[in-house]
Amino acid sequence: MSYVLLTGGAGYIGSHTALALLNANEQVISFDNYHNSSSESLKRVQQLSGRSLIDIQGDVLDSQALAQVFEQYPIKAVIHFAALKAVGESTAKPLWYYENNVTGTINLCKVMSQYGVKKLVFSSSATVYGAAEQMPIHESAPRSATNPYGQSKLMIEHILADLHSSDPDWKIAVLRYFNPVGADASGMIGENPNGIPNNLMPFITQVAVGKRDKLQVFGSDYPTADGTGVRDFIHVSDLARGHLAALGYLQQVQGIDYINLGTGQGYSVLDVIHSFSKVNQLDIPYVLTDRRPGDIAQCYADPSKAAQVLKWTTEKTLEDMVRDSWNWQKNNPNGYN
Ligand code: UD1
Repeated sequence: MSYVLLTGGAGYIGSHTALALLNANEQVISFDNYHNSSSESLKRVQQLSGRSLIDIQGDVLDSQALAQVFEQYPIKAVIHFAALKAVGESTAKPLWYYENNVTGTINLCKVMSQYGVKKLVFSSSATVYGAAEQMPIHESAPRSATNPYGQSKLMIEHILADLHSSDPDWKIAVLRYFNPVGADASGMIGENPNGIPNNLMPFITQVAVGKRDKLQVFGSDYPTADGTGVRDFIHVSDLARGHLAALGYLQQVQGIDYINLGTGQGYSVLDVIHSFSKVNQLDIPYVLTDRRPGDIAQCYADPSKAAQVLKWTTEKTLEDMVRDSWNWQKNNPNGYN
């Protein structure tokens, strides 16, 4: 019996991936420091799947704690989610971001090397495309970053490429997520942001549940169909399946590969608000305000490579995303607390 190790397994994407893996009969270990997550998510994942996983509290900055996991369990591959991810916060606390994201990944790879585990799926982001000029965005588009969070993801992509060049035994799938939203259809697990949400969907659901007065729509003068920003929203359960497909792909990947995980379809901020209102029969008060600094007009994926190499495509619609996001929020007005 060998395990798939998920760093950050209790987080939003980690917990949905843990569920997908358990449902596919994989053995799962989660290693999470609970800085931005809660072990309650993993309790629910076990309830939902009817299977158990190994839940370890630990930090990727703690090499000894990591090594202990590899010492104790046979591990066949690692999916590395553990990271900090708030853009604004990364600008205020760059060293903390670089340390957690970059040093954390280096620590992990060193321990993996030491134990001869050289299969890795890495959580990257469409943020590495910066302000891409061409839509849809293909994996070969130029990379850039405009904030420490984005820089940290870009640096890690470079580090992993160098690691593979130095030792071709490494097999690495770098997954570039577009905008993950939604929740498991059960409504038992979902996104649980600390404090005021930065991202669109959790803000909308908090307005819907009465925690916030109204949504600010950041920018209505973009060169898009309705003037608001356009993004490639992807249902987190589709994203979770993408990780399962990537694990399979590690068996055959030649070295390191970079793969977009998106739907290929862009929706505007107003599209999301209107769909949310219609599907859930709820009014979402909003005001049009200035652009948020650092935002781009549009960002959506060319998902054809994922279809080709992972044999994976998304299945969920925008309606599924807004329905499941609300189902999670209304059943858990205070998240996991
Ligand atoms: C953001 C990050 C990105 C990160 C991703 C993770 C920025 C600039 N980018 O992407 O690096 O990988 O989250 O999920 O923060 N919006 C509103 N009102 C709100 C919130 C958002 O109008 O209260 C708009 C934004 O202007 C944007 C769209 O909704 O047009 C999506 O925003 P968001 O959910 O924050 O995602 P990104 O900015 O695309």
